[in-house]
Amino acid sequence: MGKIILTGDRPTGKLHIGHYVGSLRRRVELQNSGEYDKVFIMIADAQALTDNADNPEKVRQNVIEVALDYLACGLDPEKSTLLIQSQIPQLCELTFYYMNLVTVSRLQRNPTVKAEIQMRNFEASIPVGFFCYPISQAADITAFKATTVPVGEDQMPMLEQTKEIVHKFNSVYGDTLVDPKILLPEEEACLRLPGTDGKAKMSKSLGNCIYLSEEPDEIKKKVMSMYTDPDHIRVQDPGKIEGNTVFTYLDAFCRPEHFERYLPEYANLEELKAHYRRGGLGDVKVKRFLNEVLQETLEPIRTRRKEFQKDIPYVYEVLKKGSEAAREVAEQTLQEVRNAMKINYFDDLDLIREQSEKYKG
Ligand code: TRP
Repeated sequence: MGKIILTGDRPTGKLHIGHYVGSLRRRVELQNSGEYDKVFIMIADAQALTDNADNPEKVRQNVIEVALDYLACGLDPEKSTLLIQSQIPQLCELTFYYMNLVTVSRLQRNPTVKAEIQMRNFEASIPVGFFCYPISQAADITAFKATTVPVGEDQMPMLEQTKEIVHKFNSVYGDTLVDPKILLPEEEACLRLPGTDGKAKMSKSLGNCIYLSEEPDEIKKKVMSMYTDPDHIRVQDPGKIEGNTVFTYLDAFCRPEHFERYLPEYANLEELKAHYRRGGLGDVKVKRFLNEVLQETLEPIRTRRKEFQKDIPYVYEVLKKGSEAAREVAEQTLQEVRNAMKINYFDDLDLIREQSEKYKG
């Protein structure tokens, strides 16, 4: 059996550089590695609706934004299937059957769900659909027989939940579903890129994101006002690297050749860090360097995005074709699930024969 990737994002906003280092960059590499038989990239609009039920317009608008970000980063419709979750009704049916294999208390213990319930003040009244989204995510993953799920660290509990469902399904109904593996970013800094203000997570509401589509002067402004080491007041003071957002971003983005181009007096990031720790290196210099690195990284993405923006009907066509192809794959899995669960009444000739025999007397 081949290797298959499935991953995706909720369309609740444009994608930012946290998405990029956390998963997008890797996806493009995996897509181009030739090691995978199929790559499915899902825009999870149905999942986005589980906590935006009253704001369908926001989800609708952001489907195309996310698709543009995907194409801009180099996801290639010739190599990857780009699909919209809600266009694959088979996923709902799978979710409905998997619901029988998961307990309420297990869902309540899911750390991501727990955190999200708190964040959204859902404590008193949790929408059932939202509560069950980990089960629907298991349907996403298993419908495409994904072997590999490249995601950020925050998705780990979802993968664990999926694996439990797979094991339970296979032990109750016989070997049917594929047990997926999570693929986390290799670099520590990429696991969870902090916001430009040093807060744990980039979020639109905090205004601490740098978007993939951001214009150069905006990028520069955000970098120059980034959180560093609050105790590093004068240039000659020793500075801290840990928790210093500028260095965390450099860990995530900079490569040795960036030093050759923009800061040749240092050979690599280790030297730069050592100087900062010793004292004598000012924040502005490090920020200017980070700005160069980010500008170089984001320029081709922004340019490609603008090209695709000129042909929006093409982008919808890509999503439509991808969704159609995805539906066929999901339908195949659904048939296997129905067979395993013995709800394939009309094409099970043995069943019909058995029942006939029973009543022949
Ligand atoms: N939960 C993911 C997010 O919040 C999106 C998602 C939906 C997903 N279905 C998936 C990711 C399946 C990986 C696999 O971004």
